[in-house]
Amino acid sequence: MKSSPSFHDSWFFIFFFFFLVVLSLIIFFVLKLRVLYCTCEICQAYVQSRWTSHFPNLCDWYAHLLKNSPTRTIHIHVLNNTITANPDNVEYILKTRFDNFPKGKPFSVILGDFLGRGIFNVDGDSWRFQRKMASLELGRVSIRAYSFEVVNQEIDRRLTPLLESVCTRNEILDLQDVFRRFSFDSICRFSFGLDPKCLELSLPLSKFAVSFDLASKLSAERAMFASPIIWKIKRLFNIGSEKKLNQAIKIIHILAREVIRQRRKFGFSDEKDLLSKFMTTISDETYLRDIIVSFLLAGRDTVASALTSFFWLVARHPVAEAAILHEAYKVIGLNKGPTSYEQIKELHYLHAAIYESMRLYPPIQFDSKFCLEDDVLADGSFVKKGTRVTYHPYAMGRMEEIWGSDCLEFKPERWLRDGVFFHENPFKYPVFQAGVRVCLGKEIALVELKSVAISLLRRFRVELVDGQEDKPRFSPGLTATFRDGLRVLVRARSSVSSQIINKNEKL
Ligand code: HEM
Repeated sequence: MKSSPSFHDSWFFIFFFFFLVVLSLIIFFVLKLRVLYCTCEICQAYVQSRWTSHFPNLCDWYAHLLKNSPTRTIHIHVLNNTITANPDNVEYILKTRFDNFPKGKPFSVILGDFLGRGIFNVDGDSWRFQRKMASLELGRVSIRAYSFEVVNQEIDRRLTPLLESVCTRNEILDLQDVFRRFSFDSICRFSFGLDPKCLELSLPLSKFAVSFDLASKLSAERAMFASPIIWKIKRLFNIGSEKKLNQAIKIIHILAREVIRQRRKFGFSDEKDLLSKFMTTISDETYLRDIIVSFLLAGRDTVASALTSFFWLVARHPVAEAAILHEAYKVIGLNKGPTSYEQIKELHYLHAAIYESMRLYPPIQFDSKFCLEDDVLADGSFVKKGTRVTYHPYAMGRMEEIWGSDCLEFKPERWLRDGVFFHENPFKYPVFQAGVRVCLGKEIALVELKSVAISLLRRFRVELVDGQEDKPRFSPGLTATFRDGLRVLVRARSSVSSQIINKNEKL
């Protein structure tokens, strides 16, 4: 006859069970640490932040490493990250083997709290659905003329008056901050059909902008931890940076919910903006909220970043500035700004200058995917399943074999053939990404960038204040941000015609 287990037997089983759990945890951490701990020079320089004594930014160090790699591909063991600046690899990842390099779960977990199920953070059916909806809207030819109208209204009603008032007071202005506010207003009007100034918000708009920046910065920092366990534990206990991230996201959600509420209030079935289109098919409030956050991120930070580096470069290159003004005089005449989308299309030198500026300072400096199954990149580099794979537009803009020995110089002419803008292979210049998931807002962004650039350059002269001459330092974040802003003095230009004659003398 079987006897029932004694008191001692039960304790033995409980003790044995806990022993097994603790043992498995120890084995798990030891295995993890073996991956995390690597004695190679690059990993040690990363872990101990030794690169900071030689390079102003992490992207500059990566560019240096990639330049010195024969294949233009490196692997950072402690991050399990393969990074490439080789255009053939970029084409392989973004087009040829697109299905094997999705955003992937690790990436979507890192950005999940901030971006949720928004287009930037999903793969598969959810991505296909949002891409189809957005491309139906953003792919329309008439959308460019519409974005021209929205952006130029914002320039005339808000941007120009603001700069005029600063001019008369002779104040130092942070142009990066101005561009962020401008692009935020523009994307809200364009994508959601709403003017953010008219939203009934419980907090000032600046609070949302600050929360947006913080959420972008802290989410990007999660990816820099050698192991996700560290930020996950902080999130579990809601401490430190994770507590701040949580608070910032809550504030962003208030804004997104208000956008949805207002859109419902004004009606959406007959409206032409992007959000109204989504609202006709989606009723899930959280899903709509995530879509809004992704579009805000897409349209605000990228455009502001591109404008900031463009004005920084143009202020340091008076010959290029003169050429931009000269072309504008020929195309637009004596008007202060462009009067139609057709005129914008004719500004080839300006287009080239904007492309050149983003070649050196791409708004999204690097972009990561996730390798689903073992693969071999076009340059022969083996990539193990589960590896993070990153292409690096910032480093690619500094590669001699792509751009020639003058690759570090700002030369808009390199984009022109007989005075007409010439498109390069998008895999050499993946600033808007390329291949299957290429940016959907590229054309709209270019209309916005060209309109702001020409309208401001014709009205104002932008002078960098001391200390802004040096190479920019960037803050960590999903898009490139000048750590100290772009501090400038803005001077009103004299009449357009005299300005052309003076500048022509410099040409
Ligand atoms: C200078 C401005 C811009 C740059 C440099 C830029 C660059 C990019 C890049 C690199 C990606 C891929 C990001 C990723 O893999 O997650 C992307 C995606 C995207 N962009 Fe842009 N973008 C700009 C402006 C805009 C604007 C103004 C809009 C909207 C009106 C927009 C809409 C999108 C969308 C919807 C995607 C997601 C595409 C997808 O995943 O299928 N972008 N953009």
